[in-house]
Amino acid sequence: MADPQRHPFLHGLSKHRGAPPTVVVIFGASGDLTARKLIPAVYNLAVDNLLPADFFLVGFGRKPIPDDEFRTLAADAVKEFSRRELKAEVWDRVAAHTTYVAGGYDEKPAFDRLAAHIDEIERKLGREMQRLFYISTPPSVFAPIVVKLGESGLAARHRGLPHHSKVVIEKPFGKDLTSARELNATIRSVFEEHQVYRIDHYLGKETVQDLLVQRFANAIFEPLWNRNFIDSVQITVAEDVGVGSRGGYYEQSGALRDMIQNHTMQLLALTAMEPPGSLDAEAIRDEKVKVLKAIQPLTIGPAGEVARAQYSAGMIGGKPVPGYREEEGIAPQSNTETFAALRLCINNWRWQGVPFYLRSGKRMARRVSEIAINFRRPPGTLFAGETARFDLAANTLSFQIQPDEGLSLILNTKVPGLETRTQPVKMSFRYATTFGSNTAEAYERLVLDAMIGDGTLFIRGDEAEASWKLYTPVLDYWRSVGRPGMDAYAAGSWGPPNADAVLARSAHAWRQP
Ligand code: BG6
Repeated sequence: MADPQRHPFLHGLSKHRGAPPTVVVIFGASGDLTARKLIPAVYNLAVDNLLPADFFLVGFGRKPIPDDEFRTLAADAVKEFSRRELKAEVWDRVAAHTTYVAGGYDEKPAFDRLAAHIDEIERKLGREMQRLFYISTPPSVFAPIVVKLGESGLAARHRGLPHHSKVVIEKPFGKDLTSARELNATIRSVFEEHQVYRIDHYLGKETVQDLLVQRFANAIFEPLWNRNFIDSVQITVAEDVGVGSRGGYYEQSGALRDMIQNHTMQLLALTAMEPPGSLDAEAIRDEKVKVLKAIQPLTIGPAGEVARAQYSAGMIGGKPVPGYREEEGIAPQSNTETFAALRLCINNWRWQGVPFYLRSGKRMARRVSEIAINFRRPPGTLFAGETARFDLAANTLSFQIQPDEGLSLILNTKVPGLETRTQPVKMSFRYATTFGSNTAEAYERLVLDAMIGDGTLFIRGDEAEASWKLYTPVLDYWRSVGRPGMDAYAAGSWGPPNADAVLARSAHAWRQP
């Protein structure tokens, strides 16, 4: 087992020691994401000694909550959701600098109170701090909050400090191209792009960052990473959970907006982009935007390249689970898709003719996210003739994003024995085996990166729009046709039959991850 102190993630994080004095304001402070992810992330950064010495946390929400009660709620969140147990000596340091301000998200006086509250913290501290505004509210108030941050002066570059205000915006970033453009315009009327951090938490995942390292720190992959050697790419983000208590949100969203437009597209962009000139945030994001813009518009229609479906009742982990339309908060006639699968073609020198298949769904057979690179079959007939003896598979390199994070390669191997027989075998690397399993969560990396001002793992405005441009016609088409084309799949299965049709024209089949 490797020395945990040298774990690449912690090692990588340690370069960040030196985030400037910061006050983090969380809008939506009593919300689910704050409890599940944000507070535990702050706590774990404190455990790793990665918060700046002068760090203050201010919760902001509509509900009046006394400071003490907010601290108790935050401590409960750490106890329930943190990857590491609450240690009083660490938590007490965070809690001592944690306060709460109540107010409406579009009420100017509330933002004036917030500004006065931060001024008071700075006055007591005797120094100015950067202000990081984390918007973790329902999307309907993203724009009003940004506007009020502007009107109250909170967004302004702060009195000549090198560090200034920053805004972190949760997903979903818009619901189609028009709304994403409008939101970008509102944000840009208040903040400069370098002050804006649009979250896609998949970018904070260790394995997603490793994708860049695997591609560009190993000499063996790049020569093969193109249409001459790669036959197809499959990206799967499958979940076994249903919509749970998020029915209200999910009904308005669906799999295409919730997962495909953002998470799977980020995986695709990192897989397919050209090598950036440097690891600089702009260099990487420029390449991502370039590849997103090179994707051909999708063919939509009854025999198009996009499939959708809804889960029906089935079995997960040996237990019966209800269908989507029976879930809490879901309309009995709902036309929201819980699964989407599609075929994308990238029209550039590297990828022309290589299909990229994407799929994502809820209540699937198991939770797995992976990127599988399927290489072309070897030429010639040396081992191909007698299928009984030669079980040849295409070489597949798969990045297992989660769970069991790692990397594997399928190779054809001789079966030991006096006659020549072949069999595909899997060569695997598992993070947990080499580095131990207690890795930092995506939000720890992202909160820290936002504090130090590194935008590499955040979505740039043009990137969000490039992705919406591709999917908005699909959403419009689905809205116009209503139910027709919506397949069903049993909860606990790998998806509907119409997902197979997406690949069938190229004689491909979905992998069983
Ligand atoms: C969120 C989606 O962005 O990602 C959820 O809104 C989904 O519906 C979640 O469950 C999946 O994230 P993870 O990190 O558990 O794969």
